[in-house]
Amino acid sequence: MTADCVIEHIKTLYTPVGNQPLKGVSMGDVKAIDDAFVAIKNGMFIAIGTKDAAPYKSPETDVFDASGKIAFPGLIDSHTHLVYGGSREDEFSQKITGKPYMDILEEGGGILRTVRQTRDTGFDALYETASQSLERMLEFGVTALEAKSGYGLNLETEIKQLEVIKALNDQYPVDIHATYLGAHALPEESKRDRRGFIDHIIDDMKIIKKKNLAESVDVFCEKGVFDVTETRRIIEAAKQLGFVPRIHADEMTSIGGAGLGVELEAASVDHLMAISDDDIRLLAKSNTVANLLPATSFYLNKAYADARKLIQSGAAVSIASDYNPGSTPSENFQFTMQLAGIKLKMTPEEILSAATINPAYHLGIADTHGSIEEGKQADLCLSDAKNLAYMIQRYAINLVTDVFVKGKHVVHERHMKEETK
Ligand code: NIG
Ligand code: FE
Repeated sequence: MTADCVIEHIKTLYTPVGNQPLKGVSMGDVKAIDDAFVAIKNGMFIAIGTKDAAPYKSPETDVFDASGKIAFPGLIDSHTHLVYGGSREDEFSQKITGKPYMDILEEGGGILRTVRQTRDTGFDALYETASQSLERMLEFGVTALEAKSGYGLNLETEIKQLEVIKALNDQYPVDIHATYLGAHALPEESKRDRRGFIDHIIDDMKIIKKKNLAESVDVFCEKGVFDVTETRRIIEAAKQLGFVPRIHADEMTSIGGAGLGVELEAASVDHLMAISDDDIRLLAKSNTVANLLPATSFYLNKAYADARKLIQSGAAVSIASDYNPGSTPSENFQFTMQLAGIKLKMTPEEILSAATINPAYHLGIADTHGSIEEGKQADLCLSDAKNLAYMIQRYAINLVTDVFVKGKHVVHERHMKEETK
């Protein structure tokens, strides 16, 4: 079969294999193929091989010479707060003089400040800012991502955020998984009515389901935000409606959010800086993925999640940027990968699995995404890094030169091609 596109002479192609999560030490099982080529037809990989791609070429085939470059699957950033209004640089001086993140939130700043700004920003302005972020992510090699609402905390604004996510998904070639995070904080107008607010979230989920605006539901389960009982109520209702559950768990304090996530079969439990040993054991025996967000620890000057203990216990680990205006104001997912090396002590191979096949699994797209294999969607990055270890060791710069999504060349020489939109 001849291909629409062939990428040949790849110095080394790195990829995990399969459509299941890699757990524990098997996260290091990454294939490395020297002098590789990939052949693409109708947006899918039809062959992966070495040296001579001639059998797949015809005069109509687009041939891309990747000499001197390494390749790996399109990166998957599985936890972002992509759409929001305003910015929070004025809280930065409070933060660096030592005011805790949760104190800023309790005084009506932090998430609640972004909620006010998002309520006051129209659809077009939200779309414009989020599209700039999305283009930056794409230039850093992200070809699929998850994006949450959660800066509306009322139906109208949550829907506005989810509609922006949907419009971006329709407009750009990247695949975006939408998550309703109505339980991100208790809004100021509901301070005296926690129960009533949660009743609203559950009612609103029914409307969001009907409008088909989100695939997952997430809750910020944390001391001072939503406790385990409240989180259980929201997640159980979400499951009944057919949403995929996720939990922001054990970020600052260990209140049992991760254990609850395992019990309720959450697709992912995210953050886990304060997870207990008992919950690590539960997680390792489950299908729930531990989604670690080291750039948040970096920016909040907090402890890092114990990735080594999670991996040694046999858990499946993924990593994500947590891009948001307060605790992680950077779209650079490669920096997250590099932090996973220097701070989480993960190996380059484990990091690649944590940024590709494992997030693909918990986003429910592992049959088509997360590895470079025949029959999967042709999402691929090329990098001028010498090898995978170099990619992790050189930090905070963009090492991805080219990105292909569904077989289309969308980033060239580190810039998104204009026709990509
Ligand atoms: O995942 N932890 C809760 N939510 C976000 C922070 C959002 C914000 O500060 O605006 C997070 O880090
Ligand atoms: Fe988050």
